[in-house]
Amino acid sequence: MRHFDVVIIGAGAAGMMCAAIAGQRGRSVLVLDHAEAPGKKIRISGGGRCNFTNVHTAPNRFLSQNPRFAISALKRYGPRDFLALVERYGIAWHEKTLGQLFCDGSAQQVIDMLVAEMRVAGAELLLNTSVHKIERADDGFALETDNGRVSCTSLVVASGGKSIPKMGATGFAYKVAEQFGVPITETRPALVPLTFETGLLETIKPLSGVSLDARIRHGKMHFDEAMLFTHRGLSGPAILQISSYWREGDAIGINMMPETDIAQWFAEQRAANGRTSVLNALATALPRRLAQKIVEETATTGNLADLSKKQIARLAVALQDWQVKPVGSEGYRTAEVTLGGIDTDALSAKDMSVKTVPGLYFIGEAVDVTGWLGGYNFQWAWASGWCAGQSA
Ligand code: FDA
Repeated sequence: MRHFDVVIIGAGAAGMMCAAIAGQRGRSVLVLDHAEAPGKKIRISGGGRCNFTNVHTAPNRFLSQNPRFAISALKRYGPRDFLALVERYGIAWHEKTLGQLFCDGSAQQVIDMLVAEMRVAGAELLLNTSVHKIERADDGFALETDNGRVSCTSLVVASGGKSIPKMGATGFAYKVAEQFGVPITETRPALVPLTFETGLLETIKPLSGVSLDARIRHGKMHFDEAMLFTHRGLSGPAILQISSYWREGDAIGINMMPETDIAQWFAEQRAANGRTSVLNALATALPRRLAQKIVEETATTGNLADLSKKQIARLAVALQDWQVKPVGSEGYRTAEVTLGGIDTDALSAKDMSVKTVPGLYFIGEAVDVTGWLGGYNFQWAWASGWCAGQSA
């Protein structure tokens, strides 16, 4: 049986970062992954260009039962640290919108960089390898794998969450947690499209494929980003963002002209050209199919000049406060991340170790820390991996 100082389960974003850092400290490191290649989610992330961090990273852009848990790790390893690594490897990057940093070329560059960092640090990578059994050994842990038994002093679980089973997501981390009596908070799909019941779907069917910038609200949270009508409900960045806050039975509020004072807008339009139909006027501000739908729904006919105050008020509600109740989400099949996971109360915020099981660590998406859309989830993976790598 081979012995390592550190065994890491999962060669994803968090696991590879942790391996490189632990290896740099002179620890012998083995990374196991059941997939045939490392970093498969990195490869498909950001539309193939990997939105690898966000310059606006701050603890309030993460959801967790303990919102303060992520503060320490994000402070110790921030976006600038990862960017410095990216630049050291000569990877060209650009800032898109809202502080999101992407590779100019391909997400594969980030994977190659992490694999190179692991190699330089002497970490071994064993692919196509599943872990069947984990036992507590005298001085650490013993693992039964497809490729024989290994033992280690520190065991780092970096196997991610449940999102996108097709990409190899298993929820394995939660089983390990259960085995060692580590509590888990409720898990659910997040950053995921929302779905409508069939009646409502019928009415919005003609809008499938229409997208626009909107403000989506749930309780005190709102996001101003693009929204897309789909044949199942709603998608697009603004909807994915709000999905992390939405719960079954809740309504979301949709404002399709968030920057506009509607009463003033209609007054200006009427003054400029009262003979224009309401539909044509709205179609200058919204996609035409959506404008059509809104005049139908509000039974608005005629020209701008004919609009009564009551009609304008009705249009204002339809345009700026459409309250809609999704029935569900598209689930883990398409969710970018898993909300919830390893209860942060059980972990040290400094190094991600389990307080009650010396030598055991959980990092990355497996932990109950979930970022907004826009590079925040990778930043959490890098930061939590880095912190565990300093200690494991
Ligand atoms: P990750 O899932 O990356 O890695 C886990 C590893 O463990 C995998 O290699 C898996 O094969 C392995 N594994 C799982 N179970 C195992 C088992 N039982 N035995 C052995 N190995 C096992 N975030 C962001 O910040 N910017 C972005 O652009 C995107 N884009 C994006 C697009 C899409 C389509 C998705 C699905 C997700 C994103 N994300 C994202 C989210 C981001 O991918 C995610 O937060 C990180 O990959 C999480 O990193 P981890 O290392 O924790 O898990």
